Amino acid sequence: GEIRCSGDTIVIGLAADSGCGKSTFMRRLTSVFGGAAEPPKGGNPDSNTLISDTTTVICLDDYHSLDRTGRKVEGVTALDPRANNFDLMYEQVKALKDGIAVDKPIYNHVSGLLDPPELIKPPKILVIEGLHPMYDQRVRDLLDFSIYLDISNDVKFAWKIQRDMAERGHSLESIKASIEARKPDFDAYIDPQKQYADAVIEVLPTQLIPDDNEGKVLRVKLIMKEGVKYFSPVYLFDEGSTVSWIPCGRKLTCSYPGIKFAYGPDTYYDHEVSVLEMDGQFDRLDELIYVESHLSNISTKFYGEITQQMLKHSDFPGSNNGTGLFQTIVGLKIRDLFEQITASKASATLEATKA
Ligand code: ADP
Ligand code: G6P
Repeated sequence: GEIRCSGDTIVIGLAADSGCGKSTFMRRLTSVFGGAAEPPKGGNPDSNTLISDTTTVICLDDYHSLDRTGRKVEGVTALDPRANNFDLMYEQVKALKDGIAVDKPIYNHVSGLLDPPELIKPPKILVIEGLHPMYDQRVRDLLDFSIYLDISNDVKFAWKIQRDMAERGHSLESIKASIEARKPDFDAYIDPQKQYADAVIEVLPTQLIPDDNEGKVLRVKLIMKEGVKYFSPVYLFDEGSTVSWIPCGRKLTCSYPGIKFAYGPDTYYDHEVSVLEMDGQFDRLDELIYVESHLSNISTKFYGEITQQMLKHSDFPGSNNGTGLFQTIVGLKIRDLFEQITASKASATLEATKA
């Protein structure tokens, strides 16, 4: 039978290539929402789903229509739309948004096979993360908010080397080859989705060190679309102005190469946007409060909430730079969006009862 709830689920899309920090972002996001999300209890141990009191995160790899062998036989990558079932993705995200539970398939990343489905109940906040949350227009239209993690090739390469060489024992050559092999499909099917995102976190090599190729110090941009309902961009000092700010000095300790912020209006794929940028990294996370106190519209519930979140998860990758800072800020903006949508539905219901 159908499990029908109130139909108040809001849907968030998070797009990025794999190995680009989606799971780290998810951990920051669910922490802002008030509780770590965990794999479903008593289910398939290879489930990709994460569940907390408020939030369910589903991995869109579960909508692979071709398993690993199928992809080999057909000669398509996981990035190729032909390896994914967008009809089912649409039906199930729509059902969850309408308050109806679904039997979602499981793509088993260990075996490369499709496992028997798991029951997903409609949560308050549904996050769909993966390669294609904004690819299919029907799915895209269901999203209340969308985010794209845009990791530049140089940085992606540095991260992959760190992980695949250190943890998985791959050679430099094989890592290069696998990135090159993915690139055409990445460019064709994944990258174009960023034009639809309400917020983009762009990660680039630093400009503070001439000819840096280490990829350790990062320049990170938070690109926020203007005119999105329930989302009002963060700003530095004065909304709509153009600002360049070096916070280092008496109140913020910076070692080489320092920290530089920038803020201002811009256009992105013909959309008006506000862009906040941070180049460099923090020496002392507790001093982040100095930066936080100069940012406005951050949707915190108390003074210093960003700094508190960053300190709480200082062990996550990117905590000392703009990736962690901007992921935390986006988390706060999504919490705000959720609360506004819920409040507006509640008042609409109240109006309807009065009438
Ligand atoms: P995904 O879920 O997209 O596959 P993860 O969040 O698991 O990505 O991150 C994959 C790897 O990338 C991490 O183990 C880490 O080495 C690196 N990484 C992710 N985010 C960052 C970051 N902000 N700064 C530095 N390295 C990062
Ligand atoms: C992407 C997908 C995964 C897939 C992987 C490798 O990262 O997100 O679902 O497993 O590519 O694909 P392969 O065909 O080599 O298993």
